[in-house]
Amino acid sequence: MANPNSMTIKFSILLIIILLVEASGLTFNPKVHVYIRNDIPPHPTPLNLTVHCKSKDDDLGFHTLVYGEIYTFSFRPSLFPQFSATLFFCSFAWKGSPDLHYLDVYDEDFDDCIVCSWKITKTGGCKPLKQKPDACVVWNTRIALK
Ligand SMILES: *[C@@H]1O[C@H](CO)[C@@H](O)[C@H](O)[C@H]1NC(C)=O
Repeated sequence: MANPNSMTIKFSILLIIILLVEASGLTFNPKVHVYIRNDIPPHPTPLNLTVHCKSKDDDLGFHTLVYGEIYTFSFRPSLFPQFSATLFFCSFAWKGSPDLHYLDVYDEDFDDCIVCSWKITKTGGCKPLKQKPDACVVWNTRIALK
């Protein structure tokens, strides 16, 4: 049987390794926060915006926002984007729109935002980028950041 002292040392080393891996995850893989605001101009009639966000693994369900209201969610992106990059996409719908409108709100291959703040109108979404205070994309297209 192993000497209990050497067991304790091995166990302590294992614990330290686990803590280091955890800490590096916090440094290299910070949580991303996505904010989605209904920015459809309220005149003449305010429109509620129905948002439905998903990734490969998660379905965040339907959320209805009144004008100015913000829906938020957060996640830790993949540590190994070369194997499976994290992608969250959302559909948007409002009364009188003929179909669903899609945006990739976070794509780990392109985006480097930690706080990704989208303002949604009928034409698409805008979010502040490092290079530009307000970069807008029309539905289903996107801006490559890197
Ligand atoms: C929008 O949603 C709010 C809150 O759920 C509701 O009170 C209001 O009637 C809705 N407006 C429309 C036009 O559906």
